[in-house]
Amino acid sequence: MKNLAIFFTLGWLLFACSGGTQTEQSSESVAEPEPEKMSAEALKLMAVGNKVYGQYCIACHQTDGKGVPGAFPTLVQTEWVNGDNTRLISVVLNGLQGEITVNGETYNGVMTPHGFLTDEEVAGVLTYVRQSFGNDAKPISAEEVAEVRASNTEAGT
Ligand code: HEC
Repeated sequence: MKNLAIFFTLGWLLFACSGGTQTEQSSESVAEPEPEKMSAEALKLMAVGNKVYGQYCIACHQTDGKGVPGAFPTLVQTEWVNGDNTRLISVVLNGLQGEITVNGETYNGVMTPHGFLTDEEVAGVLTYVRQSFGNDAKPISAEEVAEVRASNTEAGT
């Protein structure tokens, strides 16, 4: 135990000493533009979505979005998450069941419908999923959710 403590202390000292010269900044990197910067609207959706995910999705799809192999599919870079907006919105509003393939793995489970969420909450959670867990897909707007919800009702489902 004692040896281990000395080892860590030495390691820390070496680390601390070597870091001293790395604070210089190149003058070229001062005013970098941020083309990927999110709109205020998207940032708000992210905050709403973070909450909704933690309340309604996390139990099945897990904290890291990777799901549970064989039971709950991953949300990381899937053809559903990155794919068609209407289909993705419909999964949350109407749930999903029957055999599906996600990133080459077959699932045959039941996802419960979440139509009780508001348009903003659905847009939020999907924007959050699309921008988390290593994903980088476009935000979903509350207007799009409202449209899909309206066409659901027209179809009588
Ligand atoms: C009760 C567990 C459960 C909950 C809660 C749940 N899901 Fe699912 N989800 C599933 C299952 C199971 C499937 C696959 C359904 C099938 O096999 O047909 C699925 C599929 C999906 C898919 C399509 C496949 C993929 O992995 O890309 C998405 C997207 C998705 N869920 C997002 C969500 C979001 C967002 C929430 C929260 C609003 C949520 N789910 C809540 C169990 C759940």
